[in-house]
Amino acid sequence: MSSKNWEDLVALNSQSEPVFNLLEPAKAYEAGDKRREWFRDLDFANALEADIWPLPETKDREGYSGPHHFAYWASGFRDASNLLEAAKNHGTEISSYLDLGCASGRVIRHLPHIDPSIDTWGCDINRLHVEWCNLNLGPEIKVFQNHSIPNLPMADNSLDMISAFSVLSHIEAF
Ligand SMILES: C[S@@+](CC[C@H](N)C(=O)[O-])C[C@H]1O[C@@H](n2cnc3c(N)ncnc32)[C@H](O)[C@@H]1O
Repeated sequence: MSSKNWEDLVALNSQSEPVFNLLEPAKAYEAGDKRREWFRDLDFANALEADIWPLPETKDREGYSGPHHFAYWASGFRDASNLLEAAKNHGTEISSYLDLGCASGRVIRHLPHIDPSIDTWGCDINRLHVEWCNLNLGPEIKVFQNHSIPNLPMADNSLDMISAFSVLSHIEAF
């Protein structure tokens, strides 16, 4: 069956067997990444040391950052840091967080290294992304498959913050 939009199917790849080739952790790509300069103002040294999880191949991360693997990692660190900074500026204390449409964890992989006290969740309509996260990120990050039809299987008012990076712009129904 061909699909024009993500939502043409209620869920993606529910039957597909996950077969992933894994990249090294981000540290392996820092020196060789021409885009490292873009992120020079970020204070990422501790997170880079702490993040020993593999990176997804470009095809397993919605093409983000093409062949620039460190830039992929750093863009997620930047977005995670900005989220927490925005919450702080808003006077909101974050103890639980969901990234809707998290793909293979570009943003959520950073939460435990920035603030391990935050209960971190991700979800995606694509089961292969969910499998990638659950196989390759630590158990402190919990990821489940959701469907295009609301609701999410989470209790009302159980989250302090929800993000959706480049997801709502793709949702045309429900
Ligand atoms: C452009 S990618 C962005 C991925 C990720 N947010 C990031 O910034 O790296 C859009 C993601 O949204 C997911 N998606 C699309 N429609 C969705 C829906 N209704 N519910 C959950 N995820 C959805 C796709 O499977 C894909 O992983």
